[in-house]
Amino acid sequence: MTERVRLGVNIDHVATVRNARGGSHPDPVRAARMALAAGGDGITAHLREDRRHITDSDIAALSQLCAEAGRPLNLEMALTEEMLAIALRHRPHAACLVPERREEVTTEGGLNVAAQAGDMTRAARALSAAGIRVSLFIDPVAEQVEASAAVGAQVVELHTGRFCHAVGAEHDIELKRLAEAARLAHGLGLEVHAGHGLDYETAAEVLAIPEIRELNIGHFLIGEAVFIGLDAAVARMRAVMDGVSG
Ligand code: PXP
Repeated sequence: MTERVRLGVNIDHVATVRNARGGSHPDPVRAARMALAAGGDGITAHLREDRRHITDSDIAALSQLCAEAGRPLNLEMALTEEMLAIALRHRPHAACLVPERREEVTTEGGLNVAAQAGDMTRAARALSAAGIRVSLFIDPVAEQVEASAAVGAQVVELHTGRFCHAVGAEHDIELKRLAEAARLAHGLGLEVHAGHGLDYETAAEVLAIPEIRELNIGHFLIGEAVFIGLDAAVARMRAVMDGVSG
């Protein structure tokens, strides 16, 4: 029997709300605990270079929580010396390398792995040697999938942002792109994850792609939490992913 597709709950935007007032509420660690109790399989957090949401002390506390709970922490990070040192210090289950531009509102596109093959290979070696799974956040493009395998990543996370935004025929084309990239990645021995912009509907749609083993979802779940609570939002996403409800 294949394992169920894992749900990584990205709690960055709990920290965004907290930081709006500079205090300690709402606490992303409390949110992470609730997300895990409600059906999340792991926690994802992006330590951005500008620390606009998650902070270094959040990563320390989330590492401890995940270690105690025996659940994976997926640390999203830019490929910089500073971030590599932080990852090697905390040794999360996985490091998901993402492109980062200071002026962007959110991660806008995937990595250009092929263009940074040397740095990617060195980072993948260092992280893998520390027992950290290396995931590369890429657009669903064959060249990037192939480059990810070549630099030694174990995982690719396919960027679902375009698919989520596209409507009509374009939506179907984007889904097909994701499916083709997932098939290629799986064939090259990479584990396939997907994320960005997913909601109940689009998560159910991408789950039609059989190679996908994990979804990482943040903004929608934290937004839904305002209306129905974080535990209910995570539980409903879990049910959608299990095909229990739509
Ligand atoms: N996966 C990656 C690599 C991301 O950068 C993000 C956004 O931080 C997500 C998943 C989650 O995207 P969203 O918050 O839109 O669900």
